[in-house]
Amino acid sequence: MNIAVFASGRGSNVQAILDAIDAGLFPARVVVLISNKSDAGAIEIARAHTISTYHLSRPMFSSEEAYAGALLETLEEHHADFIVLAGYLKKIPAQIIRQYRNRIVNIHPALLPLFGGEGMYGHRVHEAVIANGEKVSGATVHLVNEEYDRGPVVLQQTVAVAPDDTPDSLAAKVLKIEHEIFPLALKAFVEGRVRIEGTKAWITSS
Ligand code: GRF
Repeated sequence: MNIAVFASGRGSNVQAILDAIDAGLFPARVVVLISNKSDAGAIEIARAHTISTYHLSRPMFSSEEAYAGALLETLEEHHADFIVLAGYLKKIPAQIIRQYRNRIVNIHPALLPLFGGEGMYGHRVHEAVIANGEKVSGATVHLVNEEYDRGPVVLQQTVAVAPDDTPDSLAAKVLKIEHEIFPLALKAFVEGRVRIEGTKAWITSS
């Protein structure tokens, strides 16, 4: 499987995926990394693995169509057949979601559909979870469709929220979970063990 990664941040999920591939967890290659931020740590991580990187963002283009076209061209040039959003903060153009239907996944640092949607990302998620007095949080791998954070959930894992947890300590616990479940979800896709029916998705054992 040729994976294209979209990332905006430091890239610890990208690193976790590359480590899993290097460890032979599943047969796949990250063939390209696209970021909307030229200084994203994820770009350095990709470069260290001699993965082609591109800085592509909407303001660089005269229209949504031109922007989507450039993204698609880059994906096709690298023969990407699966897209992984690993800390990517921008909306994927609808044209790409259509072209890669059920082949785009995202990682979210909460138990979707709770604490998701526009504006719910990064630290804000953990602040909201704690402000809400939740006893459990976790991470979610889900398919990406036209609705932000609303695609079918593929894999989730929970973590206890301790009474003395701060948004930072919770973020660290959840990030550890992300690094565990993202590679496992990708392994299931590579092995053809992800079933998708309408708004539901699940991983089968074989
Ligand atoms: C993670 O918390 C992920 O859940 C969210 O953005 C963050 C990315 O972190 N989508 P990193 O760049 O993978 O370290």
